[in-house]
Formats: sequence, C-alpha cells, structure tokens
Amino acid sequence: MFPPLALLLSYYTATVSAAVHTWPSPKLDALEAQRWDQDDTINGFSSFVQPCTFFIRGNDDGSETGRANGPDWIRTAYHDMATHNSEDGTGGLDASIRFAEEQSRPENAGTGFQNTLDVFVAFTTRHVSLADLIAIGLVTAVENCGGPQIDFRGGRIDAAEPNAPGVPEPQGDLNAHIASFKKQGFTQTEMIGLVACGHSFGGVEHKPFPEIVPELNEPNNTLSVQHFDTTFDFFDNKVATEYIAGTSQNPLLVGANDTTNSDKRIFASDGNKTMASFADSSELFASTCASLFARMLDTVPKDVQLSDVIDPLPIKPSEVQIVLGTNGKLLLSGVVRLFNVTVDDPGRTVQLLIDSHSGETTTTTLALDRFSSAMGGRVQSPFYAFNQSQDPDGNHVGVIELDPAKGVEKMRFNINGKVEDQGGVGFKVQDGVVFSETSCITTVGATEDDDPVAGRFDIAVRTGLNPRRIFLEQEVKDSLNRTVVKETDLERPAQPVSAGDGAYELWSIQVNDANTYTIGAEIDDGKFSTIDTHSLKILTPCTPTKRRVWRKRRPGI
Ligand code: HEM
Ligand SMILES: *[C@@H]1O[C@H](CO)[C@@H](O)[C@H](O)[C@H]1NC(C)=O
Ligand SMILES: *[C@@H]1O[C@H](CO)[C@@H](O)[C@H](O)[C@H]1NC(C)=O
Ligand SMILES: *[C@@H]1O[C@H](CO)[C@@H](O)[C@H](O)[C@H]1NC(C)=O
Ligand SMILES: *[C@@H]1O[C@H](CO)[C@@H](O)[C@H](O)[C@H]1NC(C)=O
Ligand SMILES: *[C@@H]1O[C@H](CO)[C@@H](O)[C@H](O)[C@H]1NC(C)=O
Ligand SMILES: *[C@@H]1O[C@H](CO)[C@@H](O)[C@H](O)[C@H]1NC(C)=O
Repeated sequence: MFPPLALLLSYYTATVSAAVHTWPSPKLDALEAQRWDQDDTINGFSSFVQPCTFFIRGNDDGSETGRANGPDWIRTAYHDMATHNSEDGTGGLDASIRFAEEQSRPENAGTGFQNTLDVFVAFTTRHVSLADLIAIGLVTAVENCGGPQIDFRGGRIDAAEPNAPGVPEPQGDLNAHIASFKKQGFTQTEMIGLVACGHSFGGVEHKPFPEIVPELNEPNNTLSVQHFDTTFDFFDNKVATEYIAGTSQNPLLVGANDTTNSDKRIFASDGNKTMASFADSSELFASTCASLFARMLDTVPKDVQLSDVIDPLPIKPSEVQIVLGTNGKLLLSGVVRLFNVTVDDPGRTVQLLIDSHSGETTTTTLALDRFSSAMGGRVQSPFYAFNQSQDPDGNHVGVIELDPAKGVEKMRFNINGKVEDQGGVGFKVQDGVVFSETSCITTVGATEDDDPVAGRFDIAVRTGLNPRRIFLEQEVKDSLNRTVVKETDLERPAQPVSAGDGAYELWSIQVNDANTYTIGAEIDDGKFSTIDTHSLKILTPCTPTKRRVWRKRRPGI
C-alpha cells in the first residue's frame, strides 16, 4: 500500500528542509557564508572573478592578457578531482594538487593551479579546507559568470600526500579518454558533457602547449591563449553552437595536429548527439552542467563524509559576540542576514528579541547595515545590525547592554510582524564563557609587528558553570599546510575574582604575542568556541586600580 498523501507530503517537506541546518553550527555556518556570501565587505571571494575577465597575474600595463581567474579555478577543480579511482576509492577532490610533485607532472602543465591556490589559501580556516575552497571556487566562478546554480556540499579533507596520476591529456586517444573518465566515475556521455561544460571557459595557452597553440601576436592577448569559444570568460552554450555550426576555433578541435584534437574526438564520439542537444537548448546545457559539476565536486576519497547540500539559511545571525564589559554588563553585538530579499525595503521592520535565562524578553529594532551578494548579483541579502547607532563613517558600532544576572539564552527575530525562531528552538547563544574587557596589555608603545607584546586575557565564566577546561584557541598550519587549532589551557583560579555583579568569575592567562585567539571551553560532554576573536594588539593598558595602588604604597591611609 502507498502511504496516504499527507504522509508523503510531510516526508518531502522534511527531506527538503533537512538541507537547511539549524544555527548555530560553526562549520556549516562558515561553509554556508563562504558559499552564499560570495561578495561581501567581510568576504570578498568573488571579487577575484569580477569582472569575469579579471586575471590575478594580469599586470596593470596589460603585459599579461588573454587569461582569466575563473577558467583557472574551474580547471583546478577538475585536475584535482581527476585523480579519483572509482575502483579503490582513492583520490578525488582533496587539494592534493597543492603538492609540487603533482603540479610538476606533464598532465598538470601550466601556471593556473598555483595562481588559483595562492588566492584560496588566504580563505582557509579550521572550518573551510583548501579542498572545500577549490569546490566553492568552481561554484563561484561558474555562478558569477552567467552559469547555473550548483549544489555544494562541505566537508572535504585536504590530502596528506599527492594522489596517483590520472588527468587525461590532449594526445590521448578516444578509448584512453573513455577509460580515464570511467575511472573517475563518469560515462562516455557524461565525459562529453563535462568536457563541454569545462571548455565553455578559457582556452589553451601557447607557453605550456607550444605544439598546440602558436604565438598569436594579438595585442590584447599577450599570453597567446586560443579560446575554446568566443565567450571564454562567460558560461553559455557557445562551445556547442559554434561546434555544430562548424565555426569553432577551439584549439583542441581545429588544431593543425590531429593527435592533440581531443575535444574533436570526444565531442563526435556519439555521432554529435550530445553536442547537438546542447546547441539546441541552452537550458539543457545549463542544467546538465549544474549536475555534472556538482557530481565532479562530490568526487572525493571514499573515507570522506560530505555534508548535505548547503542551502542558504533564510534568517542567519552572524558575527554574534557577547563580551563582559568593563562596566560589568554583558555586551551583545552582531548582525542578522535576510537571504535573497530586496536590500533596501523601507517598509520592512526587523526586531531582535532576546530571551534571558529567566524567561524575560528584550526587544530591539535593528538597522540596515550592509548586504552580501552571490551568483553575480542575482542574489542579494541585507544584513541588519543589532544596534542602530553609527560612528561618523556609518559603521554600526553600538552593542546591546544586558544584565549579566539575567544573561541571554536565545534570540528570535520579528520580521514585519512574523516571529522567526527556527521552528521553535530559537537562535541559541552561549553566555557561559565570554571574553572580559578587563583584559589588558602591559607593554605600552609597541607599534611594529615584531615589537614584543605582553598582556593578560581575562575570561569570564558564568558562576556555577564549572567547566572542565577553558582554553585559548589559535588557528595554525600543520606541516602539510592544513589549518589546525592549537589550544592553550587556562589555569583554574585558586581564588576566583568575581565580575558582572557576581554572575561571573574571571579566569586569567598571561599572553606574550599579538596572535588572534578565540576562546574554547569544555563543559560536561560539550565543547564549543566563541566566534569573536581577540588579540593583545587592540587592548588598553593594564592600569592598576587606584585603590590597590594606594593600599600598597601608602598603607597608612
Ligand atoms: C579529455 C579531457 C580534457 C583534456 C584533454 C583537456 C585539456 C585541456 C588543455 C590542454 C587546456 C589548456 C590549459 C592551459 O593552457 O593552461 C585546458 C584548459 C581548460 N580545461 Fe580542459 N581538458 C579536458 C577536460 C576538462 C574538463 C572535464 C574540465 C572541467 C570540467 C576542463 C576545464 C578546463 C578549463 C576551464 C580550461 C581553461 C583554463 C584556462 O583558460 O586557464 N577540462 N584543457
Ligand atoms: C581582443 O579584442 C577584440 C576586439 O575588441 C575582442 O573581440 C577579443 O575578444 C579580445 N580578446 C581578448 C583576449 O580579450
Ligand atoms: C605550504 O605553504 C608554504 C608557504 O605558503 C609553501 O611554501 C609550501 O610549498 C606549502 N606546502 C604545501 C605542501 O602546500
Ligand atoms: C603531433 O602531436 C604528437 C603528440 O604531441 C607528436 O608526437 C607528433 O610528432 C605531432 N606531429 C606533428 C606532425 O607535429
Ligand atoms: C559532428 O559535427 C562536426 C562539426 O560540425 C562535423 O565536422 C562532424 O562531421 C560531425 N560528425 C558526425 C559523426 O556527425
Ligand atoms: C532568489 O529570489 C528570486 C526571486 O524570488 C528567486 O527566483 C531565486 O530562485 C532565489 N535564489 C535563490 C538562490 O534562492
Ligand atoms: C546602542 O549603542 C549605543 C552606543 O553604544 C548605546 O548608547 C545604546 O544604549 C545602545 N542601544 C541598545 C538598545 O542597547
């Protein structure tokens, strides 16, 4: 028997909504931001593919033209993935392309990989591996330059060593290419699709492939790149329409030496059926590429477990921080993003509801702060700041002061009269372990980066919480350039200093560097980290309180 319709419907609703995770979830929140806030004042990832002709090695004097970052990013993802062996589950999209040994192989000729990785490395964090960035790089390049939306899953792990070779080369024969794609996990038809989708971008450069492309002597193409189609920096089906029309200048199709005309052999290998269907329908081409690219990105070593597709959170708090102020109040700040709605809608009201531990609710009206965009501006998402006050530059600098005794349990948002609370759970925040602004610097006058600095971090721990550990966390690179977290434990204070009207106790640690730290804690079975980062650099000097100085120096008074 079939289940009743209502059950079926609820099953599908649950399946669809399962892709939107519950906030907070630090890793998924970070991956979601990297994937959906492609262009933001905080994360300018897509600025590297805007305009789509932008080339990071392009000199201002125009001495290096003809290439663009987007095609390099797409080719990097393919070459990193193409080492996958579907028979034994080894290889795949795992950033093994970062190893010099892999890049020096003939199958990886060209400078595009290192150009690409030099950009991506700066965006890696403990939550976003280089391999995930290579995947997000393809998504960002394709979506920002006219391509379809591509499903992205997170959780790739950076390989510890190079993979076995496996990238097809232009001089391979058709059977070799069919076998190579089969090993990667793709059929012959999918091979035709993947090559056409990839070769909608970019071209072949003279320097690494002098046998295929001669010096072109074009003033605006100094690198002599012969492009696969006439829109080399833009996603469209011209790679197919120009092929079918017989007007294509694709160097792997019309090259003088037929041995290296791999696109010619591949495109014609099913009697042009697939390419003709792409030429007939730009929609079919776009939807085929969206699913093939997604499968290509999900081709990972067999022990890697990817997340669900990371769909955007419709309502997403971000940069949420709680610190204990020098005035003894809890100071809450942050923003909330409303995904893919009109940025400047004067009729919209956004309110933050703060629920305290004792069940009281404080309501604040929020102010439009900035917006992010994705998919080349097809998606725009306004952020509202938790406090409306601005500095002279228009930055939202205010915080919400809260009674430390009451604290904060969770947030909800009221948008045009509708309360958003993630299906009743609210947006949980933790005020158990927070940075205290009594933290201070003892070395005054340090200005240069290598000047010695020293100071004290005070961490406020909610009275009665009894954590097992409190520690500073620092993101560092291991010997294989993977981001790992280095933990430095704080000693449990013998005689706790009370703060925040007795709601907190301070744990302190001496710090002798200007590194950036988050705070971690282990409480019961849970382990968590603050989002806000802290460095001695921006702290105020430690001035002993007047009372203490007088008592020490003038005991008689
Ligand atoms: C038999 C399979 C393939 C062969 C023989 C092949 C060969 C080549 C060659 C020789 C180049 C020139 C690289 C340079 O000059 O730096 C190139 C560029 C490129 N390939 Fe492929 N390719 C194949 C499959 C793919 C696939 C499946 C994708 C992506 C899904 C892809 C994406 C690209 C892109 C985007 C470029 C342009 C790079 C740039 O302009 O910087 N290729 N390919
Ligand atoms: C060079 O300029 C011509 C004419 O403006 C244009 O059609 C062509 O696409 C340009 N090539 C590159 C590599 O920008
Ligand atoms: C690690 O990073 C350093 C500095 O950027 C670089 O010189 C080195 O080649 C990298 N090693 C690997 C395996 O990526
Ligand atoms: C054509 O290319 C192949 C593979 O690179 C090479 O071995 C061969 O010598 C080339 N033929 C000519 C006539 O240049
Ligand atoms: C496929 O299309 C190309 C380009 O139009 C043409 O040269 C070739 O003859 C076609 N091959 C088949 C088998 O139809
Ligand atoms: C953004 O909103 C538009 C208009 O409602 C919709 O067509 C589009 O699918 C949305 N995009 C995403 C990625 O949700
Ligand atoms: C917002 O910040 C300003 C400046 O810090 C402060 O005076 C004001 O009380 C804050 N508003 C709320 C609702 O906390």
